[in-house]
Amino acid sequence: MKITTQTIRKLKGDRPIAMLTAYDFITAQLAGEAGADIILVGDSLGNTALGFESTIPVTVDIMLHHCAAVARAKPDALLLCDVPFAVAGHSTDYVLDVCTKLLQQGGAECVKIEGGVRRAEKSAAIARAGVPVMGHIGLKPQDVLQLGGYRKFGKTDQGRERLLAEAKAWEDAGAFSLLLEMVDAEAAAMVTEAVSIPTIGIGAGPNVDGQVLVISDALGLNAGKYPGFAKKYVDLRGIALKALGEYVSEVRERKFPE
Ligand code: KIV
Repeated sequence: MKITTQTIRKLKGDRPIAMLTAYDFITAQLAGEAGADIILVGDSLGNTALGFESTIPVTVDIMLHHCAAVARAKPDALLLCDVPFAVAGHSTDYVLDVCTKLLQQGGAECVKIEGGVRRAEKSAAIARAGVPVMGHIGLKPQDVLQLGGYRKFGKTDQGRERLLAEAKAWEDAGAFSLLLEMVDAEAAAMVTEAVSIPTIGIGAGPNVDGQVLVISDALGLNAGKYPGFAKKYVDLRGIALKALGEYVSEVRERKFPE
């Protein structure tokens, strides 16, 4: 059955929400057939699929290209697309224009916007225009140039107050859900308790309404280091290397084709 933002809202307090990223037709089919509730075309595709060092170089056109490929898999999951770097800092009209493209041309059903209170307040107009929005707080990878690196959020009283204020602002702005990235587990539990919309965590501990994993982390496809919070469910890179190595040898030994 097709999952909608309404389905996701109703899952709060019912059962945990499972979200996965996907970046193309094949990963979207995999995530969809595995039963994910939400498929995120994350701007993490900059790192995982395109080899950039951060999400900063990811443009609207890149997001449209990948989102449309994911949409062609027609998953039952809710299709969520990231609003990429710097867009949300523009005028409301521009942000709405980008969101409209992601929905109309990219086939997304909702968008995710990174930001604190000011971005949330601005996004109220986007939600009122009919674009379902997920807010993204805690570590916001699009802020990496200002942060100078990645760290955990909500470890101090002041940090928790700030996260609560941001979460409330997204709720008041009409967001259907909230993503908490790299948030202290106790702070994430507090936020989850304080808002009526579901929270989805990544590196935010178990006391949230759902979890998201980057698909290449879950499948063990990356060559480099994995984030401490990620779980590698299978070593697909190892399996693939073995298979492809066999193919290369068989060609050289004239065993393939038979
Ligand atoms: O871009 C992304 O993949 C994300 C993660 C938090 C899942 O936003």
